Amino acid sequence: MPNPNRQLSVKHLLGIKYLQETDIDLIFETADHFKEVINRPIKKVPSLRDITIANIFFENSTRTKLSFELAEKRLSADVLNFSTSQSSVTKGETLIDTVNNILSMKVDMVVMRHPNPGAGVLLSKHINASIINAGDGAHEHPTQALLDSYSIRERLGDVAGKKVVIVGDILHSRVALSNIYALKLQGAEVKVCGPKTLIPKHIESLGVGVETDLRKALNWCDVANMLRVQNERMDISYFPSTREYTQLYGVNKELLNSLDQEIVIMHPGPINRGVEITSEVADSNQSIILNQVENGVAIRMAVIYLLASKIK
Ligand code: CP
Repeated sequence: MPNPNRQLSVKHLLGIKYLQETDIDLIFETADHFKEVINRPIKKVPSLRDITIANIFFENSTRTKLSFELAEKRLSADVLNFSTSQSSVTKGETLIDTVNNILSMKVDMVVMRHPNPGAGVLLSKHINASIINAGDGAHEHPTQALLDSYSIRERLGDVAGKKVVIVGDILHSRVALSNIYALKLQGAEVKVCGPKTLIPKHIESLGVGVETDLRKALNWCDVANMLRVQNERMDISYFPSTREYTQLYGVNKELLNSLDQEIVIMHPGPINRGVEITSEVADSNQSIILNQVENGVAIRMAVIYLLASKIK
C-alpha cells in the first residue's frame, strides 16, 4: 500500500496552481501502485469502504466522468452520480443549494465539473467536504494535466528537461493552463503554438514560449499535445475556416514523417479527427492517446485516496 505517513499539502484539488512539486511526486508514486492494482485479475481494493463521493457534472464529459467513477469503485467508495439535465438545477436551484443538499446526505468528497471558472474555489469556501475540480470552464483541469505528465513520464522516463508544445486553442483551454503549471513545476520546457487569435495575451508571463509556425514548433519538441478547437466556448470567429485551421495547425502523417526526430503525440480528447489530427496520426505508434485514458484511472485513484486520507 502507499505510505500513509506522506500527505498532500492541500485539502482540495482545485488546480495545479495550488500544488507543490512534492505533491505531484506523491500522486505519481501512489498512481504507480494503483496502476499495478488495476492490472491484477481482482482490480479492487477496500481502501475507501467508509467514504462517499458525489460526482456532480454541470457540463458533458465522457473520459473524466467515467474514469472518476471507475477510480472510486476500484477503491470501494460509495458513489453518487449527478448530472444537471436530470436534476432540480433545471428548476433554478443554485450551485451552493444543490451541493449542500447532496452533502446533507453525508457525502465526504465532491468531484465537480462546471462551466464557470472558479466554481470549485467558490464551493470550497461554503462547504466542508473535500473538492476535486474535474474542469471549471476555460480555467483548470488538474487531473487531466496530472495524467498527461504521468503519461509523458511513462513514455519518456521523466518530465524534467523534456520539451513540450501545446498546439491549438490555448485561449479556451483548461487543459493548456493546467498542463503549463504542471509541466513547469516538474522542470519541462513548454511552448504554445496556434493562431495568434487563440493564444492569450501575456502567456509568456507563465514562463512559456510562443510559436505560430507549427513545423518549427514540432521540430523543437519531444512531445506535442494537440488540443481541440472549442467551438462551444467561442462567441466570435477566431480563424477564417476549419479547412484553413487544419492546413496550418493540423498534424498529419506526412508532416510527422518529415520532422528531424520522432515525437510523441498526445490529445486530451475528445478528438476532432481530420481537424487538429488525422486518424492515421491518432492511431499511430507515436500516439499515446489511449495510454492517457488508461492512466487517468490510476491518477484519479491516487488523488482520491490521498485526499480521503486527510478526511479520515
Ligand atoms: N479530456 C476530457 O476532459 O474529456 P471529457 O470532456 O470527455 O471528460
